[in-house]
Order: sequence, then structure tokens, then C-alpha cells
Amino acid sequence: MKILVTGGTGQLGSRLAEVLAPFGDIVAPGREVLDLTDLHAAREAVADIVPDLVIHAAGFSRVDAAEADPEAAMTLNAKATGALAGAAAEATAAMIFYSSAYVFDGGRQTPYREDDQPAPVNRFGSSKLAGETALGLTGIPHIIYRCGWLYSARGRNFVTSLLDAGQRPEGGSIAVASDQSGSPTPVGVVAEATIAAVKRGREDIQAYLEAKGGLYHISCRGGTSWHGLAAAVIGIARKKGLAWHAGEPVAASHLDLPFHAARPRSSRLSTGRIEDQFGISPPNWRDALEGTIADYVKARAPG
Ligand SMILES: NC(=O)c1ccc[n+]([C@@H]2O[C@H](COP(=O)([O-])OP(=O)(O)OC[C@H]3O[C@@H](n4cnc5c(N)ncnc54)[C@H](OP(=O)(O)O)[C@@H]3O)[C@@H](O)[C@H]2O)c1
Repeated sequence: MKILVTGGTGQLGSRLAEVLAPFGDIVAPGREVLDLTDLHAAREAVADIVPDLVIHAAGFSRVDAAEADPEAAMTLNAKATGALAGAAAEATAAMIFYSSAYVFDGGRQTPYREDDQPAPVNRFGSSKLAGETALGLTGIPHIIYRCGWLYSARGRNFVTSLLDAGQRPEGGSIAVASDQSGSPTPVGVVAEATIAAVKRGREDIQAYLEAKGGLYHISCRGGTSWHGLAAAVIGIARKKGLAWHAGEPVAASHLDLPFHAARPRSSRLSTGRIEDQFGISPPNWRDALEGTIADYVKARAPG
């Protein structure tokens, strides 16, 4: 199977390019080779490579920046997704796309299911929802994985930013939202979900995704607030012997923090559908966090 992976330098894309290697011939052009804001180039790349599967892990993920430059978010998250999907249709390829829990307004008390009605409250969420629609309209076999609160030991994200900040000698403390909930999820969990589909469909990915594709939510089990996540990160980091110079995180309302974009109060996702379909069992968010912080510590150990 020939697989085109976009966003191969990102948190998720780099993990995917590693773990997908046993399943096929991976082509992962970086942004310098394939800038997806050039929609013509996006189409040409698919036409030249003729993949069986396009895994579109590139994205505009900076939620506040999307508010300041909605056109940029829309171009990458929606128009480029539509361009890749249109070219995939010509090449009879299937496609996997990563959308977001931010397609929902966050008012639900229980985790969002795939059949809940999207109602984004910010430009980032709108652009991801438009990307879902653009892909769906092509009618090609596909999966859309909705996820959120992603992190990895190597990428730049809430967890690594906090760990880096805590070790700076100047210390200080940060205010963190305690009134938004989500399920912090390492990219490995989303990569595992992707592998689950690719592995099952390895004989004929188009036919497999035609039958079993669609919309799936993927995240760790359980949930917390950003403040709960910060407290857990610090607790685990201390337990693992990391020097910690910063103070405890201060609980704040997200409404008092200097965000440009509105954010949903809840981004929790129900994973029942993917568990039933692909037999995967996501870990609890806290257990998964332990593993990533262990990787972070190992990567920085002397020698
Ligand atoms: N992070 C989250 O919490 C989260 C939540 C929901 C959904 N998602 C979605 O999941 C996917 C993976 O997320 P992630 O956390 O791995 O994102 P990430 O680390 O920010 O990586 C984004 C990738 O997109 C590439 N990219 C950006 N602009 C590009 C352009 N114009 N042309 C080509 N490539 C471009 C980046 O390349 P450079 O390295 O050159 O910048 C990078 O490889 C994305 O679609 C993201 O929107 C993420």
C-alpha cells in the first residue's frame, strides 16, 4: 500500500510516519516540498504520487491565531483538505483526516458522540468542520478522526511547554483554566487508532473504508480541566525527579485569560464507536500522561 502522509514534521504526522512504515510505502513530503496552501500543488502531489491512501495530518491548529487569520485556517484545514480529497477521488485513493472536538460548542455535560450536532464557537472549529464537509462531499472512502488536547514528548504543546517552563531557574507561576474540560491525549493513541484501521484494511483500503469508514471520536478515557492537567504534569514530573522551579498553577476562569478565541467548556469525546468498530481500548488520560513524561525525562537524561 502506498501512503501519502501530510504534516510529517508535526506531533501526530511524525509518529504516524514511524508506526505506519511496516504497512506500506510511506511518502511524507514536508512543507518545504509541498506547501498545502498551494491548492494546485496539493492536487498535483496526489496525482504524481498516486497513493492508495492519503493521511492528512497537516493542519492549522493554533486556535487563537485562527481567530486573527481565519482565511489561513480555512485554507489549510478546509480548502487543502478538499483539494487533497478531490485529487484522491481521481486517483481512486482513500483518505484519513484529523478533525477536532472544537467542532462542538462545549455545552454538553457528557462526552460528545459522533451523532451530536456540531456548532463551533471559534474559527478554528469552523475550519475543521468545513474540512469534514469538503472531504465528505467527494464521496471517497474515508475516516474522519475527531480528537483534541493532543500532546507528545517531542512536540510543542501544553505539557512540554509547562515542563520546559517549570525547569527554568527564574520560576514563576501560571494561571490555568479550571472551567474547561477535555481528555488530554498523547498522539500515540490517535496513531494507534489510525493503525487499527490501516491494519484491518491492508488488503484493500478503499473497500475497507467504504464499508467501515466514517466519523470516529478518539481520545483517552476520563477527563480533567487544563488546571487539573497542569497539576498532574507537575506531580508526575516531581515524582520522576525533574527539578521544578515554578510555583503551583493558579486556577482561573478561561474568561479571565488572554485568549482571542472563544473556547468550548467541554471537549470530551465519547469513544464507544471506535472501541466497538476497531477493538481498541484507549488508556486513562493520567496513565497515558505518565508514559509521555517518562519519555520526556528519558530524552533529556545526560549521556
Ligand atoms: N494538537 C491538537 O490538540 C489537535 C486537536 C484537534 C485536531 N488536531 C489536528 O490533528 C492534526 C495533527 O495535529 P498536530 O498536533 O500533530 O499538529 P502540529 O504538530 O501543529 O503539526 C502540524 C503539521 O502541519 C504542517 N503544516 C502546517 N502548515 C502547512 C502548510 N502550509 N503546508 C504543509 N504542511 C503544513 C506542519 O509543518 P511545519 O512543521 O513545517 O510547520 C506540521 O507538520 C492536525 O490536523 C490538527 O489540526 C490537533
